[in-house]
Amino acid sequence: MWKTAIDDAIAKTLKNIERFEGKFPHVSSNGTYELNENNDWTNGFWSGMLWLCYEYTQDERFRNAADQTVTSFHQRLKDHVVLDHHDIGFLYSLSSKAQWIVEKDEAARQLTLQAADLLMNRWCEPGGYIQAWGQKGDAKEGGRIIIDCLLNLPLLYWASEQTGNPSYMEAARIQAEKSRRYLVRGDDSSYHTFFFQLETGEPIGGATHQGYTNGSTWTRGQAWGVYGFALSYRYTKDKKFLEASKRLARYFLEHLPDDHVAYWDFNAPIENNTYRDSSASAIVAAGLLELLSLMEQQDPERLYFQEHLEKSMTSLVQKYATIGEEDAEGLLKHGSYYVHGGLSPDDYMIWGDYYYLEALMRLEKGIGGYWYEGK
Ligand code: GLY
Repeated sequence: MWKTAIDDAIAKTLKNIERFEGKFPHVSSNGTYELNENNDWTNGFWSGMLWLCYEYTQDERFRNAADQTVTSFHQRLKDHVVLDHHDIGFLYSLSSKAQWIVEKDEAARQLTLQAADLLMNRWCEPGGYIQAWGQKGDAKEGGRIIIDCLLNLPLLYWASEQTGNPSYMEAARIQAEKSRRYLVRGDDSSYHTFFFQLETGEPIGGATHQGYTNGSTWTRGQAWGVYGFALSYRYTKDKKFLEASKRLARYFLEHLPDDHVAYWDFNAPIENNTYRDSSASAIVAAGLLELLSLMEQQDPERLYFQEHLEKSMTSLVQKYATIGEEDAEGLLKHGSYYVHGGLSPDDYMIWGDYYYLEALMRLEKGIGGYWYEGK
């Protein structure tokens, strides 16, 4: 089943190279991807899909398209195009870092290190955290961390490995610990975002941006936590992060509906037309694969996570994927971007497509994405 799903995804991605004409897909409306010129937080996912397809097929058409995206990422960094946010990690891990991992391209490595420096510039004192959004020290945004940032940290961990400079690793480790302490709640659910007092670093409280309410659990935030804490454990070997990933994963899996694919927020009232977020389930599937690769062989929970992974992926492939719909642009239907903001509540999300493909390729061929080297 995984191979059929991969073949379908590869055929669609090849078609999309032509269709997108060098632009980057973001989210869809009415089944058509919104395209941009590499100026959004999501642009690395398209690059990552192209690198995955190239690794799987060795077809130069994917390599050439992926290489072109990296050229665009060089220019983006040079011109500092919409880079005043923490998602520099998503952008450069899946584009230039991927190129370095796949073909040891030195210019790509250098670009990725520059991107890591840019992310480090978002470190805020006295609070000691990476500011999520906006200009550094911004009156409204200066005190905000968000759970999504956990996926940006591998860029910093990797930069320490590459340069021997421990400061990137230290910043990432502190950010992960701060996320664990302030974003993860006692019942293993999570806040999307948390604020600190900008001037003193004192904690203020949790809130949401894309979730149902400030105290609810936004499904995708929980998903970023599952995968992100597992990756922090991989790099730091700090058992607290492995435990955090497992806690968030258990909560996620225990609150799924019968078809094993999440609604958009765990506290949203369930009615006939409540939106799903298939992208959150795709992130968790990829995250569970990472978690399983890190857990001890004799860990009694292995079977539990394995069974849930199988059920979620089967449901995504059989009920959410566009397999057989030849003209479909996206791979996964029923993702939601920002329900209360009225933005693409039931559409394709390019990160949903990316994580779905990453999970499939890891299941089928052990190709695990570009968050770390040496798989
Ligand atoms: N990182 C933004 C989102 O998940 O929508």
